[in-house]
Amino acid sequence: MYNLVIFASGNGSTLQAVIDSINEHKLEAQINLVVSDNPNAYALKRAEINNINTYIIQNKDFSQRDAELANVLSAYPIDLIVLAGYLKMIGPKLIENYTIINTHPSLLPKYGGKGMHGMHVHEAVIKAKEHYSGATIHFVNQEYDKGTIISQTKVEVLPDDTAETLSAKVQAAEKIQLIKVLNQFVQNNKN
Ligand code: GAR
Repeated sequence: MYNLVIFASGNGSTLQAVIDSINEHKLEAQINLVVSDNPNAYALKRAEINNINTYIIQNKDFSQRDAELANVLSAYPIDLIVLAGYLKMIGPKLIENYTIINTHPSLLPKYGGKGMHGMHVHEAVIKAKEHYSGATIHFVNQEYDKGTIISQTKVEVLPDDTAETLSAKVQAAEKIQLIKVLNQFVQNNKN
């Protein structure tokens, strides 16, 4: 079985899309752990409802957080770590030891970097009157949103779109894209 760990800081609708795909046999994988830096993240509730182990990482120090997570993760078989709306920087110990991918709600390199997450991205795209936005899935390295791009999906920004309507469109496209990418990883692992 292909072993996933998912990191999420907020609502966790992306996590839910992965859970649903697994339950509907559209993805041959299992989620062994959900990690969050936010004890109130709804993503944790979604994990609990689905009997998935959770871990809350609250250490504020970057190096200590990296070491603590490396220690926690060492107890699990892991083929891939997915950052699904996780807002903290990932440390070198994790980057060296695991393949890690991130979902980002824009067409990187546009609208990436520190502070550019969730609604902030969509607000910036609307303000700049972009005609297109979208979602990017990329490998994680030590800089925010700068790792090699795996895939991108374009979404049209219509004149009457708001940050909210754009967010809904991007998130819908992003989920389809993520499940496709995950299926590719699973397939590559078999070959
Ligand atoms: C997703 O759109 C994800 O791409 C974005 O946060 C949302 C999480 O939604 N991630 C970032 O902005 C990271 N820079 P969710 O909590 O409902 O899955």
